[in-house]
Amino acid sequence: MLKLRGVVTYYGRMQVLKGIDLEVQEGEIVCLLGGNASGKTTTMKTILGIVRPTQGSIEFQGQPIHGLPTRRIVELGISPVPESRRIFPRLTVKENLELGAFIRQQRGETSFEEDFERVYQLFPRLKERERQLGGTLSGGEQQMLAMARALMARPRLVLMDEPSMGLAPVLVERVFQIIQEINRQGTTILVVEQNANVALSIAHRGYVLQTGQIVMHDQASRLLQSETIRKAYLGEA
Ligand SMILES: Nc1ncnc2c1ncn2[C@@H]1O[C@H](COP(=O)(O)OP(=O)(O)O)[C@@H](O)[C@H]1O
Ligand SMILES: [Mg+2]
Repeated sequence: MLKLRGVVTYYGRMQVLKGIDLEVQEGEIVCLLGGNASGKTTTMKTILGIVRPTQGSIEFQGQPIHGLPTRRIVELGISPVPESRRIFPRLTVKENLELGAFIRQQRGETSFEEDFERVYQLFPRLKERERQLGGTLSGGEQQMLAMARALMARPRLVLMDEPSMGLAPVLVERVFQIIQEINRQGTTILVVEQNANVALSIAHRGYVLQTGQIVMHDQASRLLQSETIRKAYLGEA
């Protein structure tokens, strides 16, 4: 579904991605692991066309998307759940969700009731807080809102950037259960994480990014058992 080949990205003169090869098949949950500043967010931004690769190609459903404007990429069915949520603090929960359907509104769709129902079923807390301002939600609730907002676009592929960041362990588990549920309902997911243990426990496959290069990729269950991963990411000596 998504295929990156030899993707190179610079910020100014600093090369951040040094030739990334990565694939996501339809129906999968794939996680991209990596320490701070390894280039995880840059990989997401490059897929979304927020930053441009200087080399390499990105295909989505067989069509090259590198070079397309972000808006077009989102229209093709890729929805981001950005780092640190980026919800609109002064809009209500419901208004935040409506903005998630913006692209569909632009296409002339007017009825989103089914979608509200679906996301409220996944996130009952949001239903209760429909009229509350986004900025007054707890960290966990804001993460749920960011995920729900992405789903309002009816994406084929969701890109999640560190959904567990800053959340208490019990909420981290909850967020990943919901990611799994969203995937079971038919949405493909690429999730970036530092929290390797939880991410690998729900993912089908994983990639490990180190200073802009993929140094390992395998079935998630095998990565969980890998000596290198255990040492580097699971805090085991
Ligand atoms: N807008 C930017 N301009 C210049 N350098 C950046 C920018 N964004 C990120 N970087 C640098 O690129 C590297 C990778 O960043 P990032 O992709 O955000 O890493 P990660 O998400 O893995 O923590 C870091 O060294 C970071 O400082
Ligand atoms: Mg990041």
